[in-house]
Amino acid sequence: METRHNFGSKIGAVLASAGSAVGLGNVWRFPTEVGNNGGAAFIVVYLLCIAIIGIPVMMSEFLIGRHTHANTISAFAKLAPGKWWRIEGVAGVFVAFLILSYYIVISGWTLFYFVASVAGEMQADKDYSLVFNNFVSHPWLPVLTGAAFMGLTHFIIAKGVQSGIEKSSKMMMPMLLLIIGILVVCSFSMPGSSEGLRFLLKPDFSKLTASVILSAVGQAFFSLSLAMGCLCTYASYFRADTKLPKTAVGVSVIDTFVAILSGFIIFPAVFSVESVSVDAGPGLVFITLPNVFNIAFHHMPALGYIFSGFFYLLLLLAALTSAISLHESVTAYILEAFHLSRKTAAAAVSISCMVLGVACSLSFGAWSGLTLFGLNIFELFDFTASKIILPIGGIIICLFTGWYLDRKLVENELTNGGKLRFRLFRLYYFIIRYVAPFAIAAVFVQELLA
Ligand code: PFF
Repeated sequence: METRHNFGSKIGAVLASAGSAVGLGNVWRFPTEVGNNGGAAFIVVYLLCIAIIGIPVMMSEFLIGRHTHANTISAFAKLAPGKWWRIEGVAGVFVAFLILSYYIVISGWTLFYFVASVAGEMQADKDYSLVFNNFVSHPWLPVLTGAAFMGLTHFIIAKGVQSGIEKSSKMMMPMLLLIIGILVVCSFSMPGSSEGLRFLLKPDFSKLTASVILSAVGQAFFSLSLAMGCLCTYASYFRADTKLPKTAVGVSVIDTFVAILSGFIIFPAVFSVESVSVDAGPGLVFITLPNVFNIAFHHMPALGYIFSGFFYLLLLLAALTSAISLHESVTAYILEAFHLSRKTAAAAVSISCMVLGVACSLSFGAWSGLTLFGLNIFELFDFTASKIILPIGGIIICLFTGWYLDRKLVENELTNGGKLRFRLFRLYYFIIRYVAPFAIAAVFVQELLA
């Protein structure tokens, strides 16, 4: 069996975890949710969810992973031998596997759009809705792009914790932040962009309904990569001197910053073009934005070329750093449980995920008629993962750290054995015992009833 490695540096730990958190959820899903839920008021609720629920749950995942230095399933088994709590580890690894299989489909789309942008294909006057629909329903092209994306992910995972995950995160995350900076400036310089800023900054609280609040909690969980075993797995590679509370705050701040800046990139651009709407749903970045690039940069095609190229590169990098964390969550388990080499374990995960990925991809075309409860394969996977397993997982993590684990163990891990001061420990403990589990349960029940 392979020896277990740690991340070589604290910054590597932060960037890898931030890489997991920053993903399609920030650049694609967050602006879509903001557009659908009325703008600034949604953002205010979202920020509260991150602070009150997201950060404490992330600290809990970190402490479980770092304390046990094991994959997610063994982590729960070690802390609660012979108890049913290990179910949460199994659910975490399973849900990471499920999400990866459809995450690579959308990620493959971003790869296609990036290549098309570089080839200058996103600059012509076209019906982008048709372009998108033709592409996703094509019999093999999206499967091919999904497979190429999986190949990239596999390559990084096979290289290992330090030379694969840590090294690539240290390269890709600064690049990603730089691209965001460039795009924000580009977007602000478009005429009429101030309307978009108003949409993002002026809350209209009359738009707040229960369903908006629920969407905000769901988005916070997805965006921070919570309850899927990823952060628990990454934390198992943290060194003894990594400060867990500080790392959780740092990762959440980076994640939120990127989500909001993505809004700042997309909405001023969208508002600068009158004929397109902000609540275009998932098509926002694949249909609306290419339209925007064309109309807004009609007289400056070179700028349009740069903007769209960088935008899809941003999406691609974000997707890749998240996909590697989903992959690692499963690979770490397979590798340790079956005593395989990293390369073999990674190949087993890549191939089996790709098989499911093909089914997800085809559900936009040839297999779109194949449904269960009115959902196609892609939607079924997403529903099972994000609406059912994820919230239940979140509740179990809170109950496990707040009620099952010894309070001393929790405090010790968060303070590195008493070496650090963590002044807000009592607040953290209160939230994890009494606030977060009930808040998540409320969301869960409402979602199911909706
Ligand atoms: N947090 C990622 C995003 O915002 O796109 C998605 C994700 C990655 C979810 C890893 C879960 C996960 F374990």
